[in-house]
Amino acid sequence: MKVLGISGSPRRDQTTSKLVKEVLSTIDGETEFISLAGKRIGPCIGCLSCVEDNICKVDDDMKELRQKIAEADAYVIGAANYFSMLNGLSHCFLERFYQFRHIEGKTVAGKLGVAVGAGGSSGDPAVNNIKTFFQYNQIECVGEVAAQGVACCFVCGYGETCKVGAIHRFFGPGTKITDEIIPDLSKQPDKIAEAHAIGRKLSDRLKAFAAAT
Ligand SMILES: Cc1cc2nc3c(=O)[nH]c(=O)nc-3n(C[C@H](O)[C@H](O)[C@H](O)COP(=O)(O)O)c2cc1C
Repeated sequence: MKVLGISGSPRRDQTTSKLVKEVLSTIDGETEFISLAGKRIGPCIGCLSCVEDNICKVDDDMKELRQKIAEADAYVIGAANYFSMLNGLSHCFLERFYQFRHIEGKTVAGKLGVAVGAGGSSGDPAVNNIKTFFQYNQIECVGEVAAQGVACCFVCGYGETCKVGAIHRFFGPGTKITDEIIPDLSKQPDKIAEAHAIGRKLSDRLKAFAAAT
């Protein structure tokens, strides 16, 4: 039984990646973590070239991920909240699962999934998008977890003076950016505990599945 963890954030080692890794950390079995940061993955172009053989013909980095997706028994998919939707790179990645839908459509249908989200204020929109994706593709969602990530305004250099950024919005004008107010997953032990519990649940479900087959 193998679990594939994917972080769809274009930023490496940030909250989405950390939270996906926390879920993977309590899984008793083989896991692999992949960050989509730096990968070139475009949208589905609706060409239908995958209809005959369930293989997408678009030539980009999704090619190297196809086999891993096909071989995994479960997915822990994480995305960031960009404008109350999952971020574009994650969206492109999920769109490309269209290649698995045809013929008997058994490549991902019937497998298990966990939805993970990060957001400057909330990761829930990304989680909800992933859950809808799971439902559409007949992947059973066994758990979800969302945490607060670091909005770019904390680190862009203009956060203390920018009138439209997160610092003004969350804390009010004149706020100084200190370590204390910068969000970090380590300051959200409840979310880490939630992620661990979901990992254990997924692990148990996979063991039960393996025992029955
Ligand atoms: C283009 C863009 C749009 C964003 N929109 C939102 C938003 O609508 N709501 C929110 O809570 N955070 C928003 N954020 C903040 C990110 O969700 C936050 O930085 C999150 O931690 C990103 O995940 P990561 O840390 O794994 O990269 C936005 C960030 C970017 C770059």
